Amino acid sequence: MNAPVIQEFSYDPFDPAVMADPLPYYRVLRDEHPVYYVEKWDTYALSRFADIWQVLEVNDGTFVASEGTLPAATVLGRHNDGPVPDPPLHPMPFHANFDNPIYDGVRRCTSGPFRPRSVAKLADRIRELANERLDELLPRGTFDLTQEYGGIVAASMVCELLGLPVDLAADVLATVNAGSLAQPGSGVEVANARPGYLEYLIPIVQRSRAGDGTDHPIADNLVGYRLPDGSEFTDIEAATQMLGIFIGGTETVPKIVAHGLWELGLRSDQMAAVRADIDGNVPKAREEMIRYCAPAQWFARTVRKPFTIHGTTIEPGQRIITLLASANRDEREYHDPDEFVWDRTIERLLAFGRGQHFCLGVHLARLEITIMVSEWLKRVPEYEIISDSALRPPSSFQWGWNSVPVEV
Ligand code: HEM
Repeated sequence: MNAPVIQEFSYDPFDPAVMADPLPYYRVLRDEHPVYYVEKWDTYALSRFADIWQVLEVNDGTFVASEGTLPAATVLGRHNDGPVPDPPLHPMPFHANFDNPIYDGVRRCTSGPFRPRSVAKLADRIRELANERLDELLPRGTFDLTQEYGGIVAASMVCELLGLPVDLAADVLATVNAGSLAQPGSGVEVANARPGYLEYLIPIVQRSRAGDGTDHPIADNLVGYRLPDGSEFTDIEAATQMLGIFIGGTETVPKIVAHGLWELGLRSDQMAAVRADIDGNVPKAREEMIRYCAPAQWFARTVRKPFTIHGTTIEPGQRIITLLASANRDEREYHDPDEFVWDRTIERLLAFGRGQHFCLGVHLARLEITIMVSEWLKRVPEYEIISDSALRPPSSFQWGWNSVPVEV
């Protein structure tokens, strides 16, 4: 089938057609407009792997996320006439909006459980959760691979790491899914989504302050944190710092597991090759699943010092969006990038970002995907995706397979 011809090319991340299928747009951007200016949002879209790799490695305050890493159209619609300072200390938004020292200080409060050694200790628990799900799902014959398998396992881990009862996992999953639905023309409605999230997160902070004896090390660190002016977080502010884990930890991994198993299942030769040594081969296949299936489309930075790329100078106050999903499919970096090849050589990967905001959950994500894919392949000899009923809602943020019905 021929790719649709795009006449009079224009790209807007919130255009409903882009949100429904951005990949053809990314190809044109990479080939013809590597630094594409979206006037309405005073934003430059970077689409080539090498350019994004270079830009995200700059860590001298040229690029800051002072307007958020995922600004909605309401934010981008306001054009700045110079550098945007860090936000006021109170009410404190998510720490990613600050440059150092606040960014690093708060990130450190949340990073302990995500270090490689801490994550390695979670393997048995993840395997146990995956098998509990499979015990329940496999006798049913058909179910949703994204939500009912990976979704519940990932949300359970988020609950346990943050200090929420694990029986809230299904509710957490539903809340995060609802909050990430992007509206055509405006992006993710962060303002509406957040109160729903905070209903889970504020009580954790309150329990931490009360010293109730339960385990919530991330909240404890946040409660003990002091900002440079000596002030501490309010309950809402501390809860807000956990949003990245709550959202990032819940919804990305399940989409990659379901979509990755789908792609593998479509290619019997690749499936046979991976099954020949599941423990040895899944870590390799996992990297291709992440490259091919990672749902996050782009993240934004606001420019604080002039920056020139491909002869275009981006001025302070203007923004860039790094189209990571385009980088994952850049033919300058990967041979035949639209093909799924389980054992392709991946020398560099941008799916987890790079530089200052590099994914906090990278080790957990890799471990969860490895275990969920391996346990699935060990226990499910044959499966078929009911592709007509699979759903990938339009999105400017997480364009991924929210629902993948499967028959085993
Ligand atoms: C395969 C799954 C995942 C992918 C592809 C992914 C991707 C990303 C990317 C691209 C960023 C950088 C955003 C930016 O540049 O502004 C990021 C940041 C982040 N991710 Fe992940 N993520 C995944 C899983 C997770 C998990 C499991 C967690 C937590 C449990 C998590 C938590 C975070 C947090 C907290 C940040 C914000 C970092 C910061 O700005 O300081 N992610 N992720």
